[in-house]
Amino acid sequence: MGLVIALNKGRIFEECLPLLAACQIQPTDDPKRSRKLIFDSVTGGHKIIVARSADVPTYVEKGVADVGITGKDTILEYGDDMTFYERLDLKIGACRMMTAGPVGVLEPEQGIRVASKFVNIARKYFQGQSKQVSLIKLSGALEIAPLLGLADCIVDIVDTGNTLKANGLEARETICDISTRLIVNRASMKTKFDSVQRLIQQLEEVVENTQPPEQAG
Ligand code: PRP
Repeated sequence: MGLVIALNKGRIFEECLPLLAACQIQPTDDPKRSRKLIFDSVTGGHKIIVARSADVPTYVEKGVADVGITGKDTILEYGDDMTFYERLDLKIGACRMMTAGPVGVLEPEQGIRVASKFVNIARKYFQGQSKQVSLIKLSGALEIAPLLGLADCIVDIVDTGNTLKANGLEARETICDISTRLIVNRASMKTKFDSVQRLIQQLEEVVENTQPPEQAG
């Protein structure tokens, strides 16, 4: 049975296409050349949806997509009360969710102003530390906030650390590790069990075989 697969547009989409191709799931058109947002697959009757990251869990929860591929950051930000299953770590897009602030500047003990695109993750983290914070929701380029005096710190994804460095910021605490995950609609897990299970097993094998030797095994 064909699956509807929602993919996070951008880097995750590009990194996932070869993984899906290894599972014989290939879009009929070239996504790099096409402005289409829904692609048929060459075989298997699957559909591939190109979605904004924050919308992938929504599509999967609502059942318009059977499975979704997106970052753990997006999943955590979507909320604890998850109404879908997280079934596989694709081990790509690895980075960390961290707090960061201006180099050498101490944060106030209480009343910290925190800018983030991930306000739910930030709220939970600081609550766990019994720290009172005021959260400022931004859409991206969070590094600007401390530079302009809008916030004392940010909660953001750190990969190489180059963006922080280039903006006079330093990474402080790691909140959690992030990577790309496969999520599954609860009903599809039953009604399309065989197809979902086949996809998970195929992807598991592909992921296993693409790990660097020291991480494999
Ligand atoms: C992410 C993140 C940082 C940057 C970190 O931004 O928000 O800005 O990457 O990467 P680095 O540690 O390798 O420098 P992204 O490019 O996704 O854009 P955004 O700011 O619009 O979220």
